[in-house]
Amino acid sequence: MPATPLTRIADALLDRAVVPGYSKLGPALRRRWWPADPAPGSMAGKRVLVTGATSGIGTAIAEGLLDLGATVHVLGRNRAKTDDLVARLTAENRGADVVAEVCDVGDLAAVRAWAADFTGRVDALHGLVHNAGALPPERSETAQGHELTLAVHVLGPHLMTALLADTLVDGASAVVWMSSGGMYGAGLRDDDLEFTQGEYSGVRAYARTKRMQVVLAADWAQRLAGRRVGVYSTHPGWVATDGVTASIPGFGKVMAPLLRTPEDGADTTVWLVATRPSSRAPHFWHDRAQRPSTLGWERSQDPTAVGRFLAQVATDTDVAR
Ligand SMILES: NC(=O)c1ccc[n+]([C@@H]2O[C@H](COP(=O)([O-])OP(=O)(O)OC[C@H]3O[C@@H](n4cnc5c(N)ncnc54)[C@H](OP(=O)(O)O)[C@@H]3O)[C@@H](O)[C@H]2O)c1
Repeated sequence: MPATPLTRIADALLDRAVVPGYSKLGPALRRRWWPADPAPGSMAGKRVLVTGATSGIGTAIAEGLLDLGATVHVLGRNRAKTDDLVARLTAENRGADVVAEVCDVGDLAAVRAWAADFTGRVDALHGLVHNAGALPPERSETAQGHELTLAVHVLGPHLMTALLADTLVDGASAVVWMSSGGMYGAGLRDDDLEFTQGEYSGVRAYARTKRMQVVLAADWAQRLAGRRVGVYSTHPGWVATDGVTASIPGFGKVMAPLLRTPEDGADTTVWLVATRPSSRAPHFWHDRAQRPSTLGWERSQDPTAVGRFLAQVATDTDVAR
């Protein structure tokens, strides 16, 4: 059935009530009224890169895009795991080519080296999905001395977007940042990106950097608007993956009966890449609809804080604004 004012209210209530919206009930109900699926074969002849493709939601995103006919470059940080994935997806003959890419997204030197090689091989990209994610138990730093979640969620993807920007096809490509509903609990910290102040918590570092992804995606949306490249951030809901089992086992156990499948977690990302819906700032999506990126007490981001944050990211990555 098509969306009506009543279904829009029901959809928003599911979202604000959190548990029903983020759990598997969300897509079970919303698929009665959400926008149509991408047409079969709609990604034929198109090429998409998916990071964090070796597990959970990333694998499901790759599978969803292959099923629509895309050539999918699956990026992992572990060569053997990435090759195993390519072998499995190729054997399943999901309709198009799968290409292995190996890079540690949090290592800025590795991103530069990999991107130089990739852009030598590929000159047209229709989708770039920043899905790689981590929730570490304690503070650690990357080869360049950056806090891990900042590097994996923010700095690496930012640098990768800049280095691949010329390959994105004008008017026919999309960039998607996989954030998290956990970002609602974190304001934008422009003063302590590296989480050096106060007691470190992996959950808080995760939420802060997932907030940063939403802000960064909105900035990229502005930067690429003239080229009609769609840029979105999204959250997948609560999804049963190895990442959840390993990083937040208590949550995974208690919520097990309500967790979404990886396919449900991947749905909106696949749909965004395949349909490139028109979007307004701040471009945050969940279950095929735009959602607010801030709730209640904080109606919009402070532009001064956003400016300071973006300037620091530019400095850290050596990518001019
Ligand atoms: N599951 C949920 O409920 C949920 C909720 C909100 C948001 N998310 C987001 O959804 C995304 C996928 O999560 P998931 O649950 O599918 O987690 P997952 O099963 O742990 O998968 C994470 C993926 O990211 C990769 N990765 C981690 N660090 C990397 C690095 N430095 N370089 C390259 N790849 C790296 C992992 O590679 P390896 O295979 O080598 O470990 C893995 O493929 C994440 O961004 C996460 O924050 C998930």
